[in-house]
Amino acid sequence: MRTSDDSINQLILTALEQGKGYVSGEDLSEQLGLSRAAIWKRIRVLRGYGYKIAAKPHLGYVLVQRPDRLSSQEIGRDLKMSRLAGDLRTYGEVTSTNDLAYEMALRGAREGVVVIAEAQRRGRGRMGRLWFSPQGKNLYLSVILRPSIVPRLVPLLTYVGVISTLEALSASFSLAAQVKWPNDVLVGGKKLAGLLNEVKAETDRVDFVVLGFGVNLNMETEILSEDLREKATSVMRELGHRVSRVDFTRCLLEKIDFWYDAFLSRGVELIIQKWESVAQIRGKRLTVESFGDLYRGVAEGLDRDGALVLRTERDKRVRILAGDVLGTTRT
Ligand code: BTN
Repeated sequence: MRTSDDSINQLILTALEQGKGYVSGEDLSEQLGLSRAAIWKRIRVLRGYGYKIAAKPHLGYVLVQRPDRLSSQEIGRDLKMSRLAGDLRTYGEVTSTNDLAYEMALRGAREGVVVIAEAQRRGRGRMGRLWFSPQGKNLYLSVILRPSIVPRLVPLLTYVGVISTLEALSASFSLAAQVKWPNDVLVGGKKLAGLLNEVKAETDRVDFVVLGFGVNLNMETEILSEDLREKATSVMRELGHRVSRVDFTRCLLEKIDFWYDAFLSRGVELIIQKWESVAQIRGKRLTVESFGDLYRGVAEGLDRDGALVLRTERDKRVRILAGDVLGTTRT
């Protein structure tokens, strides 16, 4: 869609939304300074994008339903962002939204640019894993951040992302998800969302961070391989019905904006406390794998750099910066 077409489409949608009932072709053509034939052409294009627009002779047009398409028009409508600009770039299919956002950031894209795609050819998870990214079902979103912080604080941005995702799931669907350190969002022990935090930094300063979110929304778990079906779920699977991807994306962006601002303006303690309370990690007996080593112990929480602190059976305190929790029990 060209930019000029884009803004005409937006003007037509706004006019239809503001009109009480049917809006005549004549009124639209006067308001927008376009011929009635041009208006009709745009209506057909909008229908092609999935907008349900009814037309009646002598009455005009009425907007019946908006599509659940992840377009900047739909997501950006009345989006309330303060710290982040919310500069939305939406795509049909990309290799990976994190890869694209990273390239954009290298070329100077500003903080707050958000890359969203309907599908990823090579969606990436942590530790070199693949992230299954079928077309038109889930959310694949990456945001560029340029925080003025020292590199050791970057892992805390993953917690900002996890908190935002949990709050968005709760606010949008009343869905109570659990957290598995560091970045897994689970429901009933199965993975619903994950985060991938990538950084470009020098020794003492962060150039940029790309924070990537994958959230399984309207995915039928039947399309997953048998192996993944055991481990993954989606919001649709949990609730038993489809959900609005657009509404969820808007909510998630507003939560990211809020918690990123809280991180920068109110400090790391707040993020650590909030993550510890949503993850309910203190006192859990964990088995953690980190770079080939296994650690067993009772979780004492996160330290000020966001590292997981375990008290081992030999009463040693270990800090783990990256890894996977393999097992959990309450003490
Ligand atoms: C994980 O749990 O291992 C992290 C998964 C992160 C997936 C998201 S989808 C959007 C963004 N682009 C990617 O290639 N990965 C992240």
